[in-house]
Amino acid sequence: MGFCSSAFKILWRTKYFVLLVLSLSVLAWITAFSGETVKSVLVSSATTQTHVKGDGQGDKLHSRTGVPDDLNTPPRKVDCPKVSPLLQGAVKLSFDSCLTLKAVVTENENVTEGEYEPSDCAARQSVAILIPHRNRERHLLYLLHHLHPFLQRQQLHYAIYVIQQAGDATFNRAKLLNIGYLEALKDYNFECFIFHDVDLVPENDHNLYVCEDQPKHLVVGRNATGYKLRYKGYFGGVTALTREQFLQVNGFSNTYWGWGGEDDDLRIRVELQKMKIVRPPADIARYTMVFHKRDSGNEINKDRMKLLGRTPQVWRKDGLNSCSYRTLSIDRLPLYVNVTVDIGKP
Ligand code: BGC
Repeated sequence: MGFCSSAFKILWRTKYFVLLVLSLSVLAWITAFSGETVKSVLVSSATTQTHVKGDGQGDKLHSRTGVPDDLNTPPRKVDCPKVSPLLQGAVKLSFDSCLTLKAVVTENENVTEGEYEPSDCAARQSVAILIPHRNRERHLLYLLHHLHPFLQRQQLHYAIYVIQQAGDATFNRAKLLNIGYLEALKDYNFECFIFHDVDLVPENDHNLYVCEDQPKHLVVGRNATGYKLRYKGYFGGVTALTREQFLQVNGFSNTYWGWGGEDDDLRIRVELQKMKIVRPPADIARYTMVFHKRDSGNEINKDRMKLLGRTPQVWRKDGLNSCSYRTLSIDRLPLYVNVTVDIGKP
């Protein structure tokens, strides 16, 4: 009895301490439980985002966030190696007059609406290839035949866009390329853009169709000109600019109708931004030019020198931000997205 009453007295005196310990334990338990809840809410909202499709802007492809859709989704792919093991170096090109579009489609069944991404690794860059075009179906076929396997060996995520000038007004390569950039960005937020002539076929797959921290010129040499750079500032044929680099120079000028000058104009824009043009080694940056006569509707632009003189004054208001056109159709064909546009006339 004596022991019980003294134990009761001790407990009574320390009642506040016991209460405090009890409250702290309950608090600790609540905190741990709610932490788990917050975590699971965060994971489920991230998972939901991968399913959400926007208004068509930047959502053509499946989400590339790497967040799993649900527990059954395989984990994010590992990055593709810096140097693709699939590269072959200089390849023998063929220009078989019997080649058909159907055959090229069959050879590229892994390409959907002009787009491809490696199945076993995450591509290092997402690249849009833009090809201005009018009445050069045979050249386009040869280019697609070589370009699809070439880009796949480079383990890129890519999509090919062909921008067709409707009607028979004078051709405007630069404006078509501006349109290609604007239209491709509606499909996906590509980080790199390759501005590509239809008649130039790359000979060596070490000539990587990726962007660098400076604008890149990929055509050092062509068979037709003894594989020599045409002149020091030559920036024509095939060039690679990041989304930001192209935006920074306000794209191409829209005012070059007919052959020549628009590529020199782009070089001036790049130089005005204090960017430096880079080129791959000459033994790699080699192209075969598919022979053709000058197209009617693409006569030499006699005004080009005059236009080049005013580039430093006009580049800010003549370019991407002033490119007006009417889209006539967008056809998602097996090997490329075909964008047909009315761009007006000179
Ligand atoms: C033209 C360029 C062309 C180059 C090479 C220059 O005179 O202005 O547009 O790419 O020649 O043919």
